[in-house]
Amino acid sequence: MDDFARRLLAWYRRHGRHDLPWQVGDPYARWLAEVMLQQTTVTAVIPYFQRFMNAFPTVQALARASQDEVLVHWAGLGYYARARNLHAAARRITEQYAGDFPRTAEAWAALPGVGPSTAAAIVAFAFGIPAPILDANARRVLARYHAVSGRDARALRELWMHARDHTPTREAAAYTQAIMDLGALVCRKTPDCAACPVAADCAFEGEDVPVMRRARPERAVFMAVIRDPKRGFLLVRRPPHGVWGGLWSLPESAELKDLPAAVAALGLEPRLGTAAAPIRHVFTHFRLTITPIPIEGASQGCGVAERGDVMWYKGRGPGPGMPAPIRRLLNQFLEVP
Ligand code: ADE
Repeated sequence: MDDFARRLLAWYRRHGRHDLPWQVGDPYARWLAEVMLQQTTVTAVIPYFQRFMNAFPTVQALARASQDEVLVHWAGLGYYARARNLHAAARRITEQYAGDFPRTAEAWAALPGVGPSTAAAIVAFAFGIPAPILDANARRVLARYHAVSGRDARALRELWMHARDHTPTREAAAYTQAIMDLGALVCRKTPDCAACPVAADCAFEGEDVPVMRRARPERAVFMAVIRDPKRGFLLVRRPPHGVWGGLWSLPESAELKDLPAAVAALGLEPRLGTAAAPIRHVFTHFRLTITPIPIEGASQGCGVAERGDVMWYKGRGPGPGMPAPIRRLLNQFLEVP
């Protein structure tokens, strides 16, 4: 074991996180947690993880569930491709592996939604198998310690090499959590070098090499709020892939002039009311402004055909899987009946 790993482990014993709800022996729980923790903070994940484990306690339970049930429990966590991939992978594990979890990082990485770093973290945590990780936290730690700048393929190869070199053959689970925790708790964007166990020989000089941030383009969408006094809001199911794939949302169009056609397609008279307060939402690749447009006319709903991709939702109670901004938008309307 190298000195770096030894010092990280000693630091981890005293200062690391030891009682996160997924720190259990169950490979299913570890897999679920690592997928939820992609792009999402520990604090945000904890309640979702617990509810999801209660609803689908085993890979078999998850495989048996419908995609709708899975999306309901993911709603609000974002990046819904993760939920669809998790569900597809659960079905593959029950069919192809008869419910026995794979035991190599390579086999995990062949499953939908599991990249090389997530696969390594799963086998390290679940089976104690040494495998290098390079999630955002480990990347920041290693880039600073070894003065690797840039985000290109060369930098990434170099970081993976360092990740492999430092990963010890013993205590793989503790080391993996240690480097994640060091990145999350000490080697943060603004690092606390005084608290760092490897500061003495770290190459970091107080400032990261600036990296070009991708600018997020602005997008706008108009959404029709169709409300029936008895049945509630009219929701439409989004196409299975792409943004919010498979979730329930409102009829929409990129341009206001096209909204009447979207409403008419549902069999309703498109009488557009006054725009309500817009909602903003940030995705990885763009920023979205949603302008809600109420559709006027009493008992609008009478003409709507019952179809698999259209439903009414009262606006309160569990409801179907909906993106968080849509739920916020509906709440805005519930407050002003
Ligand atoms: N980020 C990704 N995986 C994590 C884990 N297991 N614990 C804490 N933060 C994480």
